[in-house]
Amino acid sequence: MSAPNADQLRYVQYDGREEERWLPAIRQLISKDLSEPYSIYVYRYFLYQWGDLCYMALDNESKLIGVIICKLEPHRSGTFRGYIAMLAVQEAWRGQGIASKLVKLAIDAMTAREADEIVLETETSNTASLRLYERLGFLRSKRLHRYYLNGNTAFRLVLFLKEGTALKGSMMDYDQPMPPIVPTDEQAF
Ligand SMILES: CC(C)(COP(=O)(O)OP(=O)(O)OC[C@H]1O[C@@H](n2cnc3c(N)ncnc32)[C@H](O)[C@@H]1OP(=O)(O)O)[C@@H](O)C(=O)NCCC(=O)NCCS
Repeated sequence: MSAPNADQLRYVQYDGREEERWLPAIRQLISKDLSEPYSIYVYRYFLYQWGDLCYMALDNESKLIGVIICKLEPHRSGTFRGYIAMLAVQEAWRGQGIASKLVKLAIDAMTAREADEIVLETETSNTASLRLYERLGFLRSKRLHRYYLNGNTAFRLVLFLKEGTALKGSMMDYDQPMPPIVPTDEQAF
């Protein structure tokens, strides 16, 4: 069977009015690559407040192929900080630039909303993710030892969108990492 062709995909912004249609597919796609699935409240925390920073790649039957979920809020360091919380592409569709396109859409949306910087964490062993973000200009700002529940270590990556942000933002708060998203039903945001 030939690899599916990413040229046919549509990229659309998540619409909270259609939660019932999209949320199950989003959860399914993201949980495939996690050792434990996130609670539905974790998804709702992001999508209720920042649904406009969530983008989906859909095939010609409107099946979900890829998704990115983000947030954007003031940070104690004084920056207006974007955060990429989740990113996944269906395995059969990987390596065709779909995640890169989703990340670019999120960067553009956060830039339009005057974000100073965008941060995220990714496992030190996740070559695909590191390569993707570093090619888009993200820098490694910190190594977070045993950051994940499975004991794996993460890199904090940061993309500066405005000049001077490095002096007050992520590069300065080395010792105060954002807490990981804990995938339990008791999670209260
Ligand atoms: C990470 C992920 C989202 C990348 O999706 P994708 O659509 O394949 O990414 P792209 O096609 O845009 O590729 C981005 C870069 O990663 C590289 N890449 C993709 N898969 C790779 C792999 N298995 N090993 C090394 N590099 C890889 C690509 O070659 C490309 O770099 P290049 O343009 O310099 O060649 C996808 O692998 C995935 O869903 N993984 C599971 C979930 C995950 O790890 N999410 C990220 C957590 S922060």
